[in-house]
Amino acid sequence: TTVDVDDTDFQLDGYDNFMHKEMHEQPEAIRRALLGRLDERFSTARLGGINLDARALRAVRSVKFLGCGSAYYAGQIGANLVEELARLPADAEPASEFRYRNPVIDGDTLYVAVSQSGETADTLAAVRELQRKGGQVIGVVNVVGSAIARECGHGVLLHSGPEVSVASTKAVTSMSFSFALLALLLGRVRDLSVANGTRLVNGLAALPELLAEILATEDQIAKVADRFHEARGMFFIGRVRCWPAAREGAQKLKEISYVHAEAYQASELKHGPLALIDETMPSVVLVPDDELLAKNVGTIEQIKARGGPVIAVTNADLPAGLVDAEIRVPHATPELDPILLTIPLQLFAYHLALRLGRDIDKPRNLAKSVTVE
Ligand code: G6P
Repeated sequence: TTVDVDDTDFQLDGYDNFMHKEMHEQPEAIRRALLGRLDERFSTARLGGINLDARALRAVRSVKFLGCGSAYYAGQIGANLVEELARLPADAEPASEFRYRNPVIDGDTLYVAVSQSGETADTLAAVRELQRKGGQVIGVVNVVGSAIARECGHGVLLHSGPEVSVASTKAVTSMSFSFALLALLLGRVRDLSVANGTRLVNGLAALPELLAEILATEDQIAKVADRFHEARGMFFIGRVRCWPAAREGAQKLKEISYVHAEAYQASELKHGPLALIDETMPSVVLVPDDELLAKNVGTIEQIKARGGPVIAVTNADLPAGLVDAEIRVPHATPELDPILLTIPLQLFAYHLALRLGRDIDKPRNLAKSVTVE
């Protein structure tokens, strides 16, 4: 398969910068990643490129995602999805750590190398180390014909189209989305029921529209970013499913606004970071409308009690007056909330960076792809 790249892909088409354009291309990017990959008859996903039949999929005993930067955080979302939908042990690790620690390679583990560019040196080195030791590795890559795509031979192409902005948006969204497909596929050869498979197939098919709904609220998100642009630093708080989304949100803010941001698991706040909370340190709290809602409300109360401003990113109905600012997102299938809740965090970081006059597409000290160690 090839993705046609014509000149218009590298033009701004009326947008002020590539990041803005690429965020708005997300519904379309997801539609392309979806094409031909949902199997409504059997309530599962079709991923021909990974070249694993039902028997081979059933032989997988655990899954490990490897990538750098945002690709690593997307891998964490993927690991949660695999554990939740397929009930297989799964985790994610920075490829740069993996390659240097003499990892134990397990023959029953499916390794997933994740990279937008397909050229990141550390991820490529991890792939080569895996292959040398006989590990089974597939690539989830955006750029066709890139080094990692070629080295892996099999995998999933993201079809996001060229991504120019250093801060990755549409590609990371397509990564998480592809991992949901992989998790569904692994789940449906195991104990994930037809009914749950159908629920997820419908949930995945609905995502492009939901993403477009969030993008349409950009002006409101910009106002919130404006209100908090003088913050000394920010916490991004998530719990379980939304913890990797919080990490990606903090990463985006750091990358393009140069405001210090730290992601924390909601329940770990009391073990140290609460000491930093005061009126100059806002927390962006991810509050999906799921079984942990009451716990997240409790976390917000703890922050408020110490005088910390709270910005909630939520699709739940929060008690009136609980938070200082609310960024609303629509309801999705709960397992897919982390994909959805990442979008407003991109817009938030973008508008805060814009307000601070930063160079959005080319943040200082960073490169789009790091092909050296
Ligand atoms: C660089 C970029 C990040 C990106 C990471 C991995 O650090 O600045 O935005 O997430 O590389 O890139 P890859 O192309 O492997 O996804």
